[in-house]
Amino acid sequence: MKKRKRISIKIPGSTSNLGAGFDTLGMAVNLFLNLEAAASDKLQIEVSGEGENEIPANANNLIYRSYRQYFRFVKEKIVPIKLSVKNEIPLKRGLGSSGAAIVGGIILAREMAKKKVSDEELLNIAASVEGHADNVTPSMLGGLTACCMFKNRVIAGKIKFPKNIKLVAVMPDLNISTKKAREILPKQINFKDAVFNVQRVSLFINSLYTSDFKNMKYYLCDKLHQDYRKKFIPGFDSALKKGLEAGAIGIYLSGSGPTIMAFCRDRESIVAKAVTDVLNRKNISCKTVHLKPYTKPTLSNIS
Ligand code: HSE
Repeated sequence: MKKRKRISIKIPGSTSNLGAGFDTLGMAVNLFLNLEAAASDKLQIEVSGEGENEIPANANNLIYRSYRQYFRFVKEKIVPIKLSVKNEIPLKRGLGSSGAAIVGGIILAREMAKKKVSDEELLNIAASVEGHADNVTPSMLGGLTACCMFKNRVIAGKIKFPKNIKLVAVMPDLNISTKKAREILPKQINFKDAVFNVQRVSLFINSLYTSDFKNMKYYLCDKLHQDYRKKFIPGFDSALKKGLEAGAIGIYLSGSGPTIMAFCRDRESIVAKAVTDVLNRKNISCKTVHLKPYTKPTLSNIS
């Protein structure tokens, strides 16, 4: 009997928005979705790790739905798979778990299908499943990325991130789905708020290139989403303030939240404790994770 090819892929989660870069900036981090798959007679999914009791082990699974989307795109009959999912990315915490799932499903599909689209097209398909590209882009390309959509295409670039910035994520024990966190955003924004973000995101990128971090706390600010979403996170403003006072060089709502991400030169644990203390006083328990940017492209993580 012919042995069936096994495919392994490791996809990073991400922190997106990074202050003023709403729906534009995203950075891959070292929390991974690990997939192993082989062609099978019927769909079989096993899930372990983060969200193992929540992630569907059937055709509703987001990895599988994305996989199926690729086959639709190339107009081929879907190849049934046996899929093992080992997940390290917390769900609904603003750390890119759905972006990683979509990227994983689509890469896997290209490996299994006869028709292989280009790497660019792969990213376009991923963005069409997610609806916005700022999580799927870093999960696909690695590193800090900026992206926009032009018609149905993702246009993306990588930005160098300084090695001496450390990341600490405080994850409040609150479930906020991206859907709910997008529904709360206004349909229109004030002109001044748009200018506020354009100024800050430009200065943020400049600070990364010049390694001048003294004003970073002013750049990792935002008027497009955080003020609306903080309603879901009691104590949010105070938590950010205490994190900065404890030594963070900048602090922001990761993705659609509720994770609060701090950039630090040092004192990461002190910063995390200051943020956690505020939330604990609001009876919200938190988990701290020390993270690193992950720079390798995911297409080099296939074996
Ligand atoms: N840019 C997205 C948002 C990231 O803030 O809604 C979450 O998917």
